Parts: sequence; structure tokens; C-alpha cells
Amino acid sequence: MDPDTTLDTPALDVQQEATDTQYADEWWRSAVIYQIYPRSFADGNGDGMGDLAGIDMRLGSLHDLGVDAIWLSPFYTSPQRDGGYDVADYRDVDPRFGTLSDFDALLAHAHSLGLKVIVDLVPNHSSSDHVWFQEALAASPGSAERARYLFRNGKGPGGDEAPNNWESVFGGPAWTRVTEADGTPGQWYLHLFDSSQPDFDWTNRWVRDEFIGILRFWLDRGADGFRVDVAHGLVKAEGLPDWTAEDGAATTMSMGSALESDLLGHAQQDPATPPYWAQDGVHEIYREWHQVLAEYEGDRVLCAEAWVEPLARLARWVRDDEMHQAFNFSYLETSWSATALRRVIAASLEAFGDVGAPSTWVLSNHDVIRHATRLAMPGHGAQVTEAAVSDDQPDDAHELDEALEPVEDLDGTTTAASLTSPLASDHPTAPDPVLGLRRARAATTLMLALPGSAYLYQGEELGLPEVLDIPADRREDPVFFRTDGERMGRDGCRVPLPWAAESPAYGFSTTGESWLPQPDLWRELARDAQHGVPGSTLELYRATLAERSRRDMGTGTIEWLTDYGADVVAFVNNGVTVIANVGEFAVELPVGDVLLSSEALSEAALPTDTTVWLLVTPAE
Ligand code: GLC
Repeated sequence: MDPDTTLDTPALDVQQEATDTQYADEWWRSAVIYQIYPRSFADGNGDGMGDLAGIDMRLGSLHDLGVDAIWLSPFYTSPQRDGGYDVADYRDVDPRFGTLSDFDALLAHAHSLGLKVIVDLVPNHSSSDHVWFQEALAASPGSAERARYLFRNGKGPGGDEAPNNWESVFGGPAWTRVTEADGTPGQWYLHLFDSSQPDFDWTNRWVRDEFIGILRFWLDRGADGFRVDVAHGLVKAEGLPDWTAEDGAATTMSMGSALESDLLGHAQQDPATPPYWAQDGVHEIYREWHQVLAEYEGDRVLCAEAWVEPLARLARWVRDDEMHQAFNFSYLETSWSATALRRVIAASLEAFGDVGAPSTWVLSNHDVIRHATRLAMPGHGAQVTEAAVSDDQPDDAHELDEALEPVEDLDGTTTAASLTSPLASDHPTAPDPVLGLRRARAATTLMLALPGSAYLYQGEELGLPEVLDIPADRREDPVFFRTDGERMGRDGCRVPLPWAAESPAYGFSTTGESWLPQPDLWRELARDAQHGVPGSTLELYRATLAERSRRDMGTGTIEWLTDYGADVVAFVNNGVTVIANVGEFAVELPVGDVLLSSEALSEAALPTDTTVWLLVTPAE
């Protein structure tokens, strides 16, 4: 697909009309949603682990930043073997994070500031500590308790072999064998993630009803919606058939084999689908949930974490009777290349627009390498899924080729280049931090100019990089341990935030405790060191969010501009001309008033790795 041929597609016009009328009240269509990872945001009780009281204390700073909503990663009762994505009670708050009353207070405070609150729902699996799983272990094979999860007999003599060959996303086998009550080796249970995260059997009506009860529990408390974890994984193919990825790659969260596809999937059939991802059966679950949310006032929202490609296929998650939003991971995985960016933007607007959904945009989250680091990595951390590899853009193809060349790791060994996600990557080389931050600022300034809903990840507004040198004995991500340290895991994007340059733990906690060590760099990047400082990353985010809102760019449409050259992404949205220079050379700017720029501009030229928003003076 050539983006330049899709600039004025009917799909965009249809989307615009609809936006103007029936969707006017739906806040989530254009919202900027800020992700809080509670363990690392702010610690209210001094134990070194963030909590709800800490979030409550710091909520004013998010209001000040100018976001519309917060999404809270899990704060539920959990042994924390996967940072809270291993839930032991879906209807309570873990004592580490506080109490249900703390949640109610936080919600009320957020609402009083005009901030919506989205909570995280983890329906693919529970913690093995959950009473449902403990009951299943105590019950016998074939019991109703076991039927909540995916227990199967093993293969081979004595059932000694796992029921199939699936691998865990976190490394190692996806099956663990249990010991039956009589002490004999017993059945196996499926866990697509850690062995402490057994997968539910979503063909079981009991499971479905329990989760509807959980949705109602949080909706009744006033939650404005749910971010749905692993929303492409709940239903597995019947018979749980063996699966080997064509390229021999280990199981990842993504659908795989998109190398052959283009972003909209026009060029081919859907990519080969592993039997544990993107099964058609998931959609009826979300239709049911949609109905539940629709009973409540106030436009409650479901957002899918679904690593599904191509975008046209992902759009099935947001048909008008299913979820409302889906994270746009194709965007997150795009390299810092003008061609690739134009393509993914056009494809996203088309794919989501076709089903009447807003596009979403995201650059960082708690599972991927922070974009202030990623965008300076070889290949810019791009998954090699982009159609750019196969088209007529020699520069981009060259860049991606380079990305595939072996690189030298921190420890001197060589591996293939690092990819977006530490789930999939080995240890990346330390990239140039100045370049990374410059590109990250330009990338965010571009992203926030796009119509639709944008997600920000805590700390990106401070320009925080990935922390690459966390000692092994301080790491907590199961990915690191399940791969014997071969994959670095995701701790590097989860380091507690710096609030105050001169305070213990940079203001994260009052005691100086911090569950992950904070680098010295946190001093200069602390929020109070950036607040009110012209040119700081924090002030850039504040100005950009304010301008986006003032000019209604979230509900606007894009009109592409093609006269700035191949290395530039340029368009007009609601009267604002947006120009991102992704190339090596400065680009001449049109005459007009500069609203904001990701770097200081000294003359009428836009330097490399810089994005500007301006009001162009009409030609006489
Ligand atoms: C999602 C979460 C990730 C978690 C995984 C298993 O991808 O974002 O943090 O480890 O699901 O629940």
C-alpha cells in the first residue's frame, strides 16, 4: 500500500462525519490516557513499592499535565510474580497497594479533577494462588473445579510428556505438571505466561459469568472502563493442536509472520494464526461485555491489549458491538522512518475508520523498551514487520537490513539486533541517549497531533530512558529468570519515577526505598527539575497536550502534505500544520506562526529529528 494514494480515502471522510454527530459525547474517541504502573508511580507509605495513596497524592500533577484519563495497571490482590498481572482476587486491592476504600477515594479524587479512571482486567489467566486454582488442584481430574482452567492429561507413557508443544511467552514450556492428591504425578495445566499464571478455559460458562460479575463489581464502583489484558488470547483452538512458527521463533505476544503482509493485510490472507492467539471465539465474549457496559451511564470503555496483525484484522476487536479501542502496536513497532510512519498512520486511520472506531496511538508501556531509548537502537527497535522492507524505499530497506545485522551486547557477545519488546529481545546495546531523547520528543509531538486517542506511559513526559544496567539480583521480571537471564525482561521500563531531584529516592518514597534501583540520571530528569523550565520534556508535553485540546486535534482529520520531501511526515489537522523531519537534513519551513516545536528553532528551517506545529500564513 502506498500511503500517498490513500490520502483522501472515503473512509476518512466517513469517519469525520460520524465524529461530528453521533460520537460527539464519547470522550474516549479523542482522549489522552496516561498509564500508571502502580508499583513504580509514587509510594505513599514508604515501603519502596508504589501504592494507591501515592497515586492519590500525585494526581494533581497529571491534571496539570493535561491528560484526560488514567489507566491503572493491576493493583489487585496478587503474589506479584508478574508485577500484578497474576491476580489472586479480582475484587480486592492488594495490601501492598492499599484497600478498596483507597481505591474509592482515588476514583472520587480523579473524577473531581475531571480525570476518567480505567482499570486493568486480566481475564486470560489468574494467579496460581487464586482460590479457584487452589480448589482445582485439590479436586480430581474431570471435576468442575478443574474445568475452570485448561487441565489435560499428558502424552506418552505415564502421561509424562506435555499435552502439546506450546511454549510460554516468557520462555520455557507452556505446560506444568501437577501432583495429584494421592502423591502421584498428575495432569498438566496450560500457562501461556509464567507457571504461576494458569490459563482459564473460556469455553466454560462458569468462567464467563464470573468475569461478568467482576466487570460489574468495578463498574458499580464507578470505574470508567477496562484495559483488557491479552485480549487476543482467551480462546484457544479446539483440541489445542501443536504449533511451530514458520520461522522457528519462540512464542511471542505478536501474531507472527507479518513479514509477508502489508499493514492492512490487502496483499495476502491473514498471517498464519497460532492456535492460542486471535481465535474467532473471543469476539462473542466481547460482544457480551459490550452489552454489560452499555447498561451503565457515562460511556464506559473497553480497550484491547491485542497483539494482532495486520491492522485490518485488529480492527475486528473494535467493531461497533465489541470493544471501543485497541492498542495500536503496529504504530509502536514502527521504525523512525518517514515512509514507515506515513504508512502506518494512513493504514491505522483506514483500518479503524472502516469499523467506525477511533485509531489509538502509543509509543511506550510497561512491556516495551521506553521510546527515548528504543528510537536510538539499531533499527529503532522496530519489529521487522513493516512492509517497508519490501517496497521501493531503498533507504528504509537499508535501515532495516542494518537492524538485522548482529550487534555487540553490553557483555561483548553478539546477537541479532534487539526488537521492540524485551519479551522478545536479548540485551540491547546502550544507544545514544541524546539521539534517543531527541527522537522521542519528536515522535511524541507527532503522535499527539494525530486524530484519535493516545496513550502515554508514566515517565515518558520526563524523557526517561530505559534503565539497561539493573543488576541481576535486583531484577523481578519472570522473563529474566525463565530465560536464565538471556532476555533482559521489562524491569528497565518500570524503574520508580523521579519526582523531586533532591529528595530521597528522588521523591518516589519518603524513606528513600525503591523496589528497583534508580539511576543517578533521575536527579536531572526529576519532575521538579523540569517543571516550569522552558524546553524541558515535561513542558513540551504540557504545551503539546494543551494545544491538542485547544485545537480539537483529537477529533480532527488528516490532510497529507506532500511537498516537504520523502523524509518528512507532514499533514494538516484542524488547521494546524504538523511537520516531522525524520530525515538527515534540515527542511525549509513555510511562513507562519510556530505553535510549538520539539526542539528550539533558530531559523526558518526544521532540523533533523524535530517536529513542529504551526499555523501557516495563507499565500497572498
Ligand atoms: C500483558 C501485560 C504484561 C503481562 C502479560 C501477562 O501483556 O501487559 O505485563 O506480563 O500480559 O499477563
